[in-house]
Amino acid sequence: MWQDRLVTRSLVTLRQLALNDWQAVHSWAGLERACRYQPWGPNTEEETRAFVQAAVEAWSHADQQRFAYVALFENELVGMGELRIRSRRHRQGEIAYIVHPRAWGRGVGTAIGRELLSRGFGELGLHRICATCDPRNLASVRVLGKLGMTYEGRHQHTALIRDGWRDSEMFSILEGEWRPSPSGRL
Ligand SMILES: CC(C)(COP(=O)(O)OP(=O)(O)OC[C@H]1O[C@@H](n2cnc3c(N)ncnc32)[C@H](O)[C@@H]1OP(=O)(O)O)[C@@H](O)C(=O)NCCC(=O)NCCS
Repeated sequence: MWQDRLVTRSLVTLRQLALNDWQAVHSWAGLERACRYQPWGPNTEEETRAFVQAAVEAWSHADQQRFAYVALFENELVGMGELRIRSRRHRQGEIAYIVHPRAWGRGVGTAIGRELLSRGFGELGLHRICATCDPRNLASVRVLGKLGMTYEGRHQHTALIRDGWRDSEMFSILEGEWRPSPSGRL
C-alpha cells in the first residue's frame, strides 16, 4: 500500500502518523508560538491526544479524506503535514503543515509541502490542491510561494481566533503546473 511506504527526500522523511506520536506532536501543539495563527491551541495534552487519535483513525476509513504524516529530519520528529481530499468528484485537495520552532528556517516546511503535493497529484490523482494561511504568517506565505503555488486572493474573516477575526490568503496549484524536482532536493 502506498500509504505505508517511507518516502525519503534529501532532508525530510514522511511517514504515516501513529498514536504514539502524540507526545512529539504535543511538543509543538502546546506552544503559543507554533499555533499563533491557527484557530486551535495552544493545546492541552488531552486535545493533542484527541487530534492524533482522529487523524490516525482516518487512515482506516473506507472513503479516506485525511492523510496525516509526521516529518523526520536528522532522525528527529520535527513536524507534521496533512493532505485532505475536499472533493473526490472534482479531484480537489488541500495541504497543511507545521514544524517545531526549533527546526524553523531549515527547509523542513517546504519539504513537507513538496511531499504532500507529490502524493496528492501522484497517488491520489488530484487536479487542484489549495492551501490557506493568515496574511501575517509570512513564513507560510513564503513556503507556499516556494512550492510554486499561485496566490488567488484574500478571503475575509474565515476564522475567529484568539486575537479576533482572521483573514486567509488562498493559494493553489494545478496538476499541470506541478513539477516534482527530479532529485527530490529542495
Ligand atoms: C510555516 C512553517 C511551517 C514554515 O516552516 P519552515 O520549516 O521554517 O519552512 P522553510 O524553512 O521551508 O521556509 C520558510 C521560509 O520563510 C521565510 N521566513 C520565515 N519567517 C519570515 C518572515 N517573518 N518574513 C518573511 N519570510 C520569512 C524563511 O526565510 C524561509 O524562506 P527562504 O527559504 O526563502 O529563506 C513554520 O513557520 C510553522 O510551523 N509555523 C507554525 C504553523 C503554521 O503556520 N503552519 C502553516 C499553516 S498556514
